[in-house]
Order: sequence, then C-alpha cells, then structure tokens
Amino acid sequence: MLVFAALLLSAQQQPRVAPDSRILEARYELAYPWWDSNRGTPLPLSKTFGDPSGQLRLLNTSGAVETSGHPFFTPLGSNGRACITCHQPTSAMSLSLDLIRQRWADTQGKDPLFAAIDGSNCPNLPQEKEESHSLLLERGLFRIALRWPPFAASGQPIKPDFRIEVVRDPTGCNRNSDSISVYRRPRVAANLKYIARPSGVTLMADGREPSLRSQAITAALTHEQASVPPTPAQLKQIEDFERQLFMAQHSDNLGGLLGEPGGPPLLGADNLASGIAGVGAVPASGNLPASFDPWRNLSTANLAIRQRAFRESVLRGVDLFASREFGLPDRRRGTCAACHRPGINRSRDIGTTNLPTAKESPELPLFRITCDASAPPHPQLGRTFLTQDPGRALITGKCADAGSILMQQFRGLIARAPYFANGSAVDLTELVDFYDRRFGIGLTEKEKQDLVNFLSIL
Ligand code: HEC
Ligand code: HEC
Repeated sequence: MLVFAALLLSAQQQPRVAPDSRILEARYELAYPWWDSNRGTPLPLSKTFGDPSGQLRLLNTSGAVETSGHPFFTPLGSNGRACITCHQPTSAMSLSLDLIRQRWADTQGKDPLFAAIDGSNCPNLPQEKEESHSLLLERGLFRIALRWPPFAASGQPIKPDFRIEVVRDPTGCNRNSDSISVYRRPRVAANLKYIARPSGVTLMADGREPSLRSQAITAALTHEQASVPPTPAQLKQIEDFERQLFMAQHSDNLGGLLGEPGGPPLLGADNLASGIAGVGAVPASGNLPASFDPWRNLSTANLAIRQRAFRESVLRGVDLFASREFGLPDRRRGTCAACHRPGINRSRDIGTTNLPTAKESPELPLFRITCDASAPPHPQLGRTFLTQDPGRALITGKCADAGSILMQQFRGLIARAPYFANGSAVDLTELVDFYDRRFGIGLTEKEKQDLVNFLSIL
C-alpha cells in the first residue's frame, strides 16, 4: 500500500515526464507478481515482496543478480520452464497455490508451468482440460516419478524389504511397474547454505538428492525436460546463486518490522545471512524463548495497541512451540521444538501421508505396503498399512521408513501455502489443527492462533 501511494505521489509530482523504467518495473510487479523465465531484469541485492500478512524479503549477499542468461532463470530444456518457474520470489522461492491459480487464469493454462510431464496429473491425459491438472490447481502438487525398485548412488539396485501395491490410481500414472508416481509441493530454493550440507540427508521430501549439484541436474532433466545435463559452469552458477540467497518474512501488517537491529535474532533476512538465525524455528545457537527477549523486554510505550497485542501473541506462540509437551510418535514426550531444532535427523513420519492419520484424499494415489516377515516393521503401523506417499522408503527400500518425510525449512511460510509435502494443510491454521488432532495436544483456539502468528513471521 505504502509503495503504491509513493508511486502515485511521484506520478502526480512529475506529470509530464515519461516514467522511468524503475517505476514501470515496480508498477508491473504490483500488478503482476509472476516472474517469467524470459523476464531478463536483474534481481536486486535486496527486494521485498508483498505476501498475505506483510512483506517477504529476498537478500542476495553477493550483490544484484543478472538474470538474463542465468541458468536458474533461463530455460535449460525443451518445455520453456526454468528453475524460477516453480521457485518464485513472491512465493518465498516455492510456489503458492494462489499464484498457480492466478497463472492458470491469466494464461488459460498455457504457461510452461502446466507442462504435461509433471504439471498435470499424468502426461497422457488431455492437457487442455482443467481437470487433468487438478492436483496442481487444487493442492499445488507436481508429479514426482521415482524408479522402483530404487538404486543406490553407486548404481546398484536396492532390494526393498517390503512390497508395494497400487490400491487406488486416480491419475492413471501408477500403471507401470518400474516407477512410482507421487505428488509433492515444491520446496524452498533459498537459505540453502544452511540446508544443503556435505553429509547427511538434506534435500527433497524423501532426502534423495545428495547435493545441490545433483538436485539441479535432476531438475533440469525432469521438470525442464532437458536432453543433456547443465554444463559444469551452469551448475556452479545455480549453486552459487542458491547459496548466497537468503529469504525471510520482513514485516507484518500487525506486528510491524521484524528484522530490526537488536530484535529477536530469529527474524529477518539479515540475521539469516549472518548465520545467527537458522532455518528452523529455533535459532542456530540456543534457546528459542530467550531469543525473543528483545520483544519481551521492549518498553511497550511506543507500540500501537494492535502491534503490541500481536507481538504478545507471537511470544505466547514461541513459548508453546518450545515448551508445550505432547506424546511424540516414538511414544516419548516432547515439544514442537523437539523435532524442529538445528542438528537433528530431519526425516520423520508424523502421519501426514500414511493412513489412518493422513487427510483422506481420493484424488491422490493410494498404496499398500507389506513389510517382509524378516524386516523390522514400521514403528507405529506394523507390517501392513496404506500410504499416499511412502516418502523416504522409496529411496532406502526400508519398510520402517514408509511415510517418513524430510522436514522443510520454516522461512517465508505465510507466502507459500499450502503446507506439508502433499499440500494437505491449506493454511497455517489447518497445519496447527493437524498437529493438535494427531497428537491430542489439546490446544485452545487462542493457543492455535498464537502458534499461527509465530509461524507467520518467520
Ligand atoms: C516444475 C516445477 C519445478 C521446477 C521447474 C524446478 N523445481 Fe525445484 N522443486 C520442485 C519440487 C516439486 C520439489 C520437491 C520435490 C520433492 O520433495 O520430492 C523441488 C525441490 C527443490 C529443491 C530442494 C529444497 C529442499 O530444501 O529440499 C531445490 C534446491 C530445488 N528444487 C532447486 C531447483 C533448481 C535449481 C531448479 C532448476 C534447475 C528447479 N528446482 C526447478 C519443483 C520444481
Ligand atoms: C516428531 C517430529 C515433529 C514434531 C514434534 C513436530 N513436527 Fe512439524 N514437521 C515434522 C515433519 C516430519 C514435517 C514434514 C511433514 C510433511 O511435509 O509431510 C514437519 C513440517 C512442519 C512445518 C512445515 C510445513 C511446510 O510445508 O513447510 C511446520 C510449519 C511445522 N512442521 C510446524 C510444527 C508445529 C507447530 C509443531 C508443534 C505443534 C510441530 N511442527 C511438531 C516433524 C515434526
């Protein structure tokens, strides 16, 4: 709003002068948040974008990025898509359902985003029909086809310790026996310096990509339908870009500026870039509640009433996140922060894709998993159960990993609904509701709102 007012003002002040290109660009963005793969304008050192509860900020610590010809912003394959197509700045470098729908409406479904390969429920469906893209248009999901049985990084086939049967195949894409199609949300392509680590399972919902380099090769060959992998120079450019790009919520319509100097270290892109924040909900070093002391001790005199009320709600959310205990899947007691803190094995089964806890979704495929008698059973579900997405088990071939999904980072959440790898929570309220039901936490409506407010400012 403020920006818009400033534009109007400057237009009134200089009625006869042709608007300079910066203003045109700014107007274009206000009217139209889509970043087209052929756009060619630089991505500035720092840039804010409006989102549902305030503003999000992108920070390029190595300076403005020339996007013309840059392999993240330019199609590498045959279908007109680039990385930026599915990792949009206004969607926190992921892709919100709202933006997908707007793009469908504005291009009558002709944008490369909707390419048959994975932007439709199955490539052999009639592509001009909206219903052939229903999983993308209703849940924000892309098709991910994985080889089955899996192969180890060495190229050796892995012998799974379970059988997988297709119980329901509403998209018609699970008829081949040599691959399995699951449907997933794009993950955030920013703050990756803290996510892509040389060792450990760090990328994709199932942890299948060992590095940003391997991830970019696969993305070019699959999503972009490239016939050859990107060159080493292109891969370096993509990775360099991803490692210096930081993104976090910048301001909240009620809570005000978030990343001010001296404020909570968890907030804002500058703190992220400097390494004190961390990409989860717990700061890289230490104690979550204490890290919000700058807000607790703030002399409240100069805060507007609604701003103070919002910050107080966030503080209650912080304390709930850090200290409200409930029964975890492994039967121990713990908190939200028990899983969402730095330095933890991030792949867990919280029941988002396995029945009976997953949201019932007739539009998604359903698989029956039967573990071999000799295999360790699934910790909660035993030897036979149903799942919409076996997650990590599709990579490891281990029955005990079925439904295990790698936690996403927490940045820019408000700009990239829906949530969870299968898009089953339409907004943050539904996400918190899922946890409340799943783990019988017993949150009040007010406590749910406090958690939502906390999550929305990261
Ligand atoms: C058609 C949409 C699409 C395009 C194009 C695309 N991606 Fe993605 N990206 C996704 C989806 C979907 C996932 C999550 C897949 C999964 O979890 O199995 C993802 C995941 C990622 C991740 C993992 C982040 C994390 O925290 O795990 C990175 C990094 C990434 N993409 C970078 C890229 C790059 C680089 C390119 C271009 C070479 C690219 N993407 C092109 C849809 C896309
Ligand atoms: C047992 C470990 C565990 C606990 C406890 C836990 N989470 Fe999660 N969280 C996960 C996993 C695993 C995922 C990824 C699930 C998926 O995508 O299907 C996740 C994902 C998330 C996401 C990211 C969603 C997205 O799409 O980017 C948010 C936000 C979140 N959890 C909030 C919470 C809150 C709030 C609590 C406490 C009420 C909580 N978590 C407790 C394991 C946990």
